[in-house]
Amino acid sequence: MASGAQVKERPFYMTGNFAPVTQELTAFDLPVEGAIPPHLRGLYLRNGPNPKGADEGHWFLGDGMLHGVRLENGKAQWYRNRWVRTRAFLEDAQFVDGNGNVDRTVAKANTHVVSHAGRTFALVESSYPTEVTGELDTVGICDFDGRLRTAMTAHPKRCPRTGELHFFGYAFMPPFLTYHVLDAAGTLIHTENIDVPGPTMIHDFAITDRHVVFLDLPVVFNFETAMQGGFPYEWSDDYGARLGIMPRCGRNADARWFDIQPCYVFHPFNAFERDGQIVIDVARYAELWRGGPHTFSTASAHRWTIDPAHNRVTEQPLDERAIEFPRVDDRRAGAAHRFGYAVANHTGLSEDAQELVKYDFERGTCETHGFPSGCAPGEGVFVAAGDRAGEDEGYVLSYVYDANRNGSDLVILDANEFTRRPVATIRLPQRVPFGFHGNWVPDQG
Ligand SMILES: [Fe+2]
Repeated sequence: MASGAQVKERPFYMTGNFAPVTQELTAFDLPVEGAIPPHLRGLYLRNGPNPKGADEGHWFLGDGMLHGVRLENGKAQWYRNRWVRTRAFLEDAQFVDGNGNVDRTVAKANTHVVSHAGRTFALVESSYPTEVTGELDTVGICDFDGRLRTAMTAHPKRCPRTGELHFFGYAFMPPFLTYHVLDAAGTLIHTENIDVPGPTMIHDFAITDRHVVFLDLPVVFNFETAMQGGFPYEWSDDYGARLGIMPRCGRNADARWFDIQPCYVFHPFNAFERDGQIVIDVARYAELWRGGPHTFSTASAHRWTIDPAHNRVTEQPLDERAIEFPRVDDRRAGAAHRFGYAVANHTGLSEDAQELVKYDFERGTCETHGFPSGCAPGEGVFVAAGDRAGEDEGYVLSYVYDANRNGSDLVILDANEFTRRPVATIRLPQRVPFGFHGNWVPDQG
């Protein structure tokens, strides 16, 4: 480099195990330490940003890459990692053109991967879903037979009782928020625009047996920053903060909104109804991105209890430790949960996380599963031990990065024996960069 040239410091998301991998690999019959439970028959998938080229300007803006491990008969049959081949990936197509027009067929599908009605979708909240196959190949954009006209959140909620998939899309132009429902067969059967005061970043939401719960929180779209090409969402001291509840498959006119203390929540654990109130457990940030969009503070477990009869919300801290990626047994979605799982994360970045935690919200206790020095788990996904298994009767699956050898494992913990050594550790042929969310896709039949 020429003398005097400025060396730009690489941002955190392009270094260490946040940095992308460059190869797409396929490996069969992976080495296993311990014993994979033989009834785990299916595919563990996880999504995350993996820019194919230069720095995209923000951790959230890299091309999506899926990492999958297929388990069957106590064996780890294969590992595959594949970029999600969207138009953004293949053609460098732009999500927003020079006139500010949005093309939702352009996606950096990097945030989550969800199956519904026999189809699997890589999701990012700006765009339409991208369908992928069981071997991680890209099928293409899906707009549910032309019925979906907004973006789709990366965090849809499947109701285990009705089989419906509830979700929403948000946008920086009106309508700012739109609610949708897919029926159990995957047909889009309900769409409703929801009034909110402005364009906020709405990453996730929750359902109960009877309601949906929207989070309208003060991380707000800034047009000027967007025009200058920067990451366009920032903290606002003026916007306020509110929770909205609306009957499932309901109408905007039936939504009720409740003011809360300003804060930010990417992810709830779950929500449920009890004695006419709605309880929602979340990973809550006191504020987010006040100092710019690369400054991640820490979140901790809180419980909101919405009391519609008295028009108020109470907020209760549940734990002081810094957590993210909260999950529950998905069979409890919308119903009362006792247990929750999360990554304990002391600085807000996964590189420093060395523990998975399991909360018992009924007892108010927390168990930790620590990993050796240099090892950092990602999101822990609960998989039930069988159709009749009780809550917490199953396994927690997570990709764990080991900086000591610059490699990753798929680790399987027994949820009931959370602090004990993993029941199985599956050695992967390359490291899995720190990413976002995943799911277990069980074999049918
Ligand atoms: Fe998320």
